[in-house]
Amino acid sequence: MNIVLGISGGIAAYKTPDLVRRLKERGAEVQIVLTASGEEFVTPTALQAVSGRPIRNNLWDKEAEASMSHIELARWAELVLIAPATAEIMSRLAGGGAPDLLSTLCLATEAPIAVAPAMNRVMWANPAVQANRRLLEERGMTILGPDTGSQACGEIGAGRMIEPEAIADAIVGAPGSRRGALAGKTVMVTAGPTREPIDPVRYITNRSSGKMGYAMARAARAHGARAILVSGPVALDPPYGVELHRTETAEQMYAKTHELIGDVDVFIAAAAVSDYRPAGSHVKKIKKTADTMTLELVRSPDILASVAALDPAPFTVGFAAETHEVETYAKAKLDKKRLDMIVANRVGADCGFDFDDNAVTVYWPGGEQAFAEAAKIELAEDLMALIAERYETVREEAEPRLVIVSSIAASKD
Ligand code: PMT
Repeated sequence: MNIVLGISGGIAAYKTPDLVRRLKERGAEVQIVLTASGEEFVTPTALQAVSGRPIRNNLWDKEAEASMSHIELARWAELVLIAPATAEIMSRLAGGGAPDLLSTLCLATEAPIAVAPAMNRVMWANPAVQANRRLLEERGMTILGPDTGSQACGEIGAGRMIEPEAIADAIVGAPGSRRGALAGKTVMVTAGPTREPIDPVRYITNRSSGKMGYAMARAARAHGARAILVSGPVALDPPYGVELHRTETAEQMYAKTHELIGDVDVFIAAAAVSDYRPAGSHVKKIKKTADTMTLELVRSPDILASVAALDPAPFTVGFAAETHEVETYAKAKLDKKRLDMIVANRVGADCGFDFDDNAVTVYWPGGEQAFAEAAKIELAEDLMALIAERYETVREEAEPRLVIVSSIAASKD
């Protein structure tokens, strides 16, 4: 993907060498266009070194224009990303002014434009800036962020540029990008453990950290999907652009999943849902009296099986966490729960839960594919590519074929 990265004059420009690196990691070619005020915050030398291409900073640079004119640059771009985007550049985009190279090529390009605003919180809240934001969105530009938090000026509020990693994630799957294999689709992922209360201070849970499920939601977004994450209690921040719904118990996770399932094209159950929960939760803390204690447990609803049984059901992907006979149990779950795919991983003291890496084998009716140990973030990207491919195949197979029968009436004089 050819990305023109426009850098305007905000303090967040100091993060752009990192942004370039992350875009390049994802396979993008990055051509930097630096405004005069951007150059006050980050040097052309640093940017040239990380991007591997001479930076462009002047509409009137005869030599640069001779090798690639600003119109050719506008055609070369498959996406124009402006990060950081100041109130000034947003105003120019809204007003159609073209006093410099960046604004000129934004007018001259047919590529999608994404903008990552960065400014003081009062400036961001200013009605003029908000009117420009709305206008840019109405015209189809993607506005990434801003984040809320502490700002370089010492204030706290909305206006921070979102982090380079989040921008790169959003861009890779942004509407109009070629890698949006799931563009226009909705993917729901369940993640993390559930917590089943015994009394107000104790609960039953498991060792799931949510890392695998959160990575799957991130990958769904990066593949262009609207990503919905129904999460149990974990200590992770949601990936950028993912809709997060927090739940605690298996019953809450079941209810939230079914509340939102109507729009879902692909459902991925990565959560480690408690199979059983205490028959009744005590209102008061249980006091220790006897030497032993028996806890009565009842079955929790099976979220995955219930989604797969819907008519029509989304493309349904389960995970199987097993300590032994992984393949046998995973295939049995694929069959019994009538899934489209199952991702089998071994879990134990040295793998699976909470680790940053994972190794899995995916099974589907009539096929399988093994994925070697890799960071969950990277593994999720590869799994999502396979899911997108299988989803397409299954959908094509299910589509009723149109058979055209033509009858030719032969007439003889
Ligand atoms: O969260 P991490 O620390 O990153 O760890 C990742 C993981 C090991 C939790 C993840 O990769 C994984 O394997 N998740 C599924 C864990 C699990 O509960 O597997 P299971 O074999 O018990 O369940 C099979 C499938 O049914 C799973 O998709 C599960 O989400 C689903 N299920 C199970 C029970 C239930 N009541 N409802 C369900 O939806």
